Amino acid sequence: MSDLKSTVLKELMSSQALLDLQKKYPNCEMLQKLVDNFHIFWEIYEACGKKWELGCGSYLMDGKTYDYCPLMYEKQKLLYDKAKTATRALEVGVYIGHSLFLMLLANPEMPIFLIDIDDTLSWPAINVLSTNFPKAVLTFVKGDSHVILPQINIPFDLFHIDENTRKDIQKKIGFTAYPVSCPKILLLFTMTMTAVRNL
Ligand SMILES: C[S@@+](CC[C@H](N)C(=O)[O-])C[C@H]1O[C@@H](n2cnc3c(N)ncnc32)[C@H](O)[C@@H]1O
Repeated sequence: MSDLKSTVLKELMSSQALLDLQKKYPNCEMLQKLVDNFHIFWEIYEACGKKWELGCGSYLMDGKTYDYCPLMYEKQKLLYDKAKTATRALEVGVYIGHSLFLMLLANPEMPIFLIDIDDTLSWPAINVLSTNFPKAVLTFVKGDSHVILPQINIPFDLFHIDENTRKDIQKKIGFTAYPVSCPKILLLFTMTMTAVRNL
């Protein structure tokens, strides 16, 4: 395919909000990879039956409209940058697979252990991502993280905790609810907290 054809195709498969943001940050590797692979965003949408939990956002969309959300650029880049150097990641809160997509764009061969209490959208999203990132080893467990985490004894060096826990129990949970082994980096994104801890 000619360069021009492939550029036009990419733009058609993209999002205007993403292309506009790329103009602001023309040297951003993450944005370039998102533009180049944005068809995966739409493949996930199709695989999920064009449905999502209304009001529940992801790393790439605001929960109201299925489109790229530039307001989360800093958060997206933080996860992308941390995933680049990680060797094995744990993610709690897969939902529609958008944070997983960012981690795989950064590190397409990384083994990632995934937990979500609800697999309705997670399964189709993981299947799309497995097809597009065939070298990644994705392990998904459906269930409550508070039950599953104490049962796993695998070393991870990136922890991405993105479950939408109730506000009243978030304060109690803090970092200590996750009895995980040898973390180097913990990214904790809940509705009231955004924190990165280098351990
Ligand atoms: C905000 S969404 C995650 C968004 C996702 N990281 C993305 O970017 O597409 C939160 C997810 O956490 C899951 N969740 C909530 N409580 C949970 C729990 N106790 N254990 C496991 N998953 C949980 C929900 O089912 C939901 O899919």
